[in-house]
Amino acid sequence: ARPTAAGHYEVTQRAARIEILPGLTTEVWGYAGTFPGPTFDLRRGGDATIRVRNELTVPTSTHLHGGVNPPDSDGYPTDLVVPAGHPHGHDHGHGGHAAVIHQGAKDYRYPLEQRAATLWYHDHRMDFTAPQVWRGLAGFALVRDEEEDALPLPGGERELPLMICDRAFEEDGSFRYPGRHDPDFMEGVEGDVILVNGAPWPVAEVSATRHRLRLLNASNARRFRLRLDPGGRFVQIGSDGGLLAAPVTHDTITMAPGERFDVVVDFSAYPVGSTVTMVNTLAGGSASNVMRFVVARRAREDSAVPRALSRPPGRAPAVATRTFDFRRSESAWTINGQPYRPGVPLARPRLGTSEVWRLTSDFHHPVHLHLAHFQVLARNGRPPAATDAGWKDTVDVRPYEVVDVLARFDGYRGRYMMHCHNLEHEDMAMMADFDVI
Ligand code: C2O
Ligand code: CU
Ligand code: CU
Repeated sequence: ARPTAAGHYEVTQRAARIEILPGLTTEVWGYAGTFPGPTFDLRRGGDATIRVRNELTVPTSTHLHGGVNPPDSDGYPTDLVVPAGHPHGHDHGHGGHAAVIHQGAKDYRYPLEQRAATLWYHDHRMDFTAPQVWRGLAGFALVRDEEEDALPLPGGERELPLMICDRAFEEDGSFRYPGRHDPDFMEGVEGDVILVNGAPWPVAEVSATRHRLRLLNASNARRFRLRLDPGGRFVQIGSDGGLLAAPVTHDTITMAPGERFDVVVDFSAYPVGSTVTMVNTLAGGSASNVMRFVVARRAREDSAVPRALSRPPGRAPAVATRTFDFRRSESAWTINGQPYRPGVPLARPRLGTSEVWRLTSDFHHPVHLHLAHFQVLARNGRPPAATDAGWKDTVDVRPYEVVDVLARFDGYRGRYMMHCHNLEHEDMAMMADFDVI
């Protein structure tokens, strides 16, 4: 996306018909009518304003995931942009909580006083986030800074943001999404086709040198375990919250919805002419096929992964500990027994402090905090996994696990949310407000 003036961008949400499966057309609801939406290339301190126009037939709310933003630009689920002329009666309120309605467009302000990181934006409308993201309302926003510029990491065409998500299709090519009372809805909706940047089983031509892959799991509910075939390593350089202090090497990467992994893969380890596939080992059949890399040509090695990458902010001691239990109760998914009630915060952390949040769970729940970045301290009282490294905003909480995170409440006072990033769970009320005071 190109700015219309310094720091000003405009993007219009609209329906469009595009070819995703060969020979068929799919109606998407996209930012700029594309899926994924345009990638915003932003700079730390860049203070961007993005005017989002809604030319769809439904209300939307845009959230910059991983962003440290003022509360009125954070995509609160009842802070809605309605299409001009839309009768929005039922969006007026929820249990006495009044919605904020913007007619036709809203300016979202992102000060970007935060480290370089792979962020993404997506719809966040109350009760309808899952179907609206499924139809295409999501894209990348990359934040860069001087600390990162100074490193010899692969860049330019050797930097590939990869939005990975699953979708299901009807025979005519349209997206297949179950009704709310379908048994498939409750646990989270999965599709049998994996898309990378909106394309099924794509091929990327790469030169035989290092490439930086910014991996994002943008699925509604599907977890991936990524592996390279015929073997190979992911050198992780960053997490949700930006660069790690030092690289961490993995044979596989497990990604829950909402998580990002910034990794370097060295294609000089493979013969020129060979194909390297990225597979998902958590599924069989078509859902195991993610993408292919064809090592097309030799290349001069012009990048490196330094042993010291960055100086991420340190941890501060926690001033409080709180427990949040993510659990199914009858027909809803709840946090501490409570289905989401906008305007009723479950916690009031103080600005500038850190707290331990203990997350307990009965299922796979990728728990996401708005505003606050955190570090994983422990899983079931034991040290976290290698893939939990760094500052994060989403953590893969697995069935019957107890995950302790240390969250830092920095940036702004006001109302934010924590929720399960299984988007059907989110729509089925697994969300809670917290007020930073
Ligand atoms: Cu990516 Cu509130 O979510
Ligand atoms: Cu978020
Ligand atoms: Cu969940």
